[in-house]
Amino acid sequence: MNRSLRPCLSLPRHCRVRRIPARRWLVTDANADNYITVLGDKYPKDSKTNITSAIMDKLERKLHLQPSHPIGILRSMIETHYPGFTALSNFSPVVTPAMNFDDLSFPLDHPGRSLTDSYYINSDHMLRTHTSAHEVETFAKGIRQWLLTADVYRRDEIDGSHYPVFHQMEGARIFHDNPNGIKDLEEDNARLSAHLAKSNIVIEDVPHVTSTNPAQVSHNPKHAELVALNLKLSLNSLILDLFGGRAGAGEGEPLRVRWIEAYFPFTSPSYEVEVFFGGKWLEILGCGVVLQSTLDKANVPNSIGWAFGLGLERIAMILYSIPDIRLFWSQDPRFSSQFTPGQINTFKPFSRYPACYKDVSFWLPDKALHENDFCDLVRDAAGDFAEDVKLVDAFTHPKTGRSSQCFRINYRSMDR
Ligand code: DAH
Repeated sequence: MNRSLRPCLSLPRHCRVRRIPARRWLVTDANADNYITVLGDKYPKDSKTNITSAIMDKLERKLHLQPSHPIGILRSMIETHYPGFTALSNFSPVVTPAMNFDDLSFPLDHPGRSLTDSYYINSDHMLRTHTSAHEVETFAKGIRQWLLTADVYRRDEIDGSHYPVFHQMEGARIFHDNPNGIKDLEEDNARLSAHLAKSNIVIEDVPHVTSTNPAQVSHNPKHAELVALNLKLSLNSLILDLFGGRAGAGEGEPLRVRWIEAYFPFTSPSYEVEVFFGGKWLEILGCGVVLQSTLDKANVPNSIGWAFGLGLERIAMILYSIPDIRLFWSQDPRFSSQFTPGQINTFKPFSRYPACYKDVSFWLPDKALHENDFCDLVRDAAGDFAEDVKLVDAFTHPKTGRSSQCFRINYRSMDR
């Protein structure tokens, strides 16, 4: 091991890492009492409470509702693409684990449920990790085709493309599973196919249904195929609308889109979609045929349909050439003044300060430390100055068996 990366206990006192009391970053209420107030509501804290103050500060920003912010602009462009769909964008980020996981058939041991992956207010409330958390309640309202945009929260590593808050748009459409509904479906498929056939797009497809990506047992296999086809046609035409003819797609070249078999607990068959842009394949969304059990929970009988969830930052970073995900949160007018509703333009960087690397090493607590715990601590202390955090070394003392880790933090201001 490189000597300089060893735990710094042998360094002079002023160089030592400041001792941080265990779990300090889990305490978010200024009064440090037994309650936590989130968006005006008071919740009792318990052993699951792990929401941090850096995250609390983001809850009211609602970037997707700002008409001149790239996330807000993209939201309205997609809403315009789906004229008959009900657009929803005001759902609270506080949901129950039942809404986020159980209603969507996530198994009890799914890693997404763990404290290291998700932010919990307490055992009964959490911050949604995806917009799919609202599928059941939206279908239950009787809305049959809708788009829902929201901020979602996941504990994650720190780098230029990961941020613990980001935005997703969920889209869904269900058809009546009767002769009239299937006729609507076939007509829509014919209309979309005709549109795509005369467009400059090349689609690498996979079969709609395979033994590894099956139709659901309760579905008529023909109807399931028609719904999967409608999902694919509908998303191909959205992607064409967003990416087609833009410089990154290749001058005069057709837009390239590829479909990949996937797995989600709440859809079957399921797919992921990638688009070829700026010389690379980029994954932009997940989707599939909605599990019948989800529709049953929402009390919508005799219906069959699809849903998708797309990452708005991912798409906006590609379309606007925004190099770092932290920029979306910048309140510097040199960022915000660059964007206009209805327009996609290339972002012009206004400041690029040099990277400033600092290493921090420490003995690990007896209870294991997850890298996401350390990243949340860094975000609470350094905010958006932290550009990326990497584990660069690990050491176990041969005699005592104690372990230490060394992280390299890159601090860089986006605007000053
Ligand atoms: N919720 C998924 C995620 O965050 C994305 C997704 C996949 C949404 C499939 C869907 C879907 O509606 O059908 O990764």
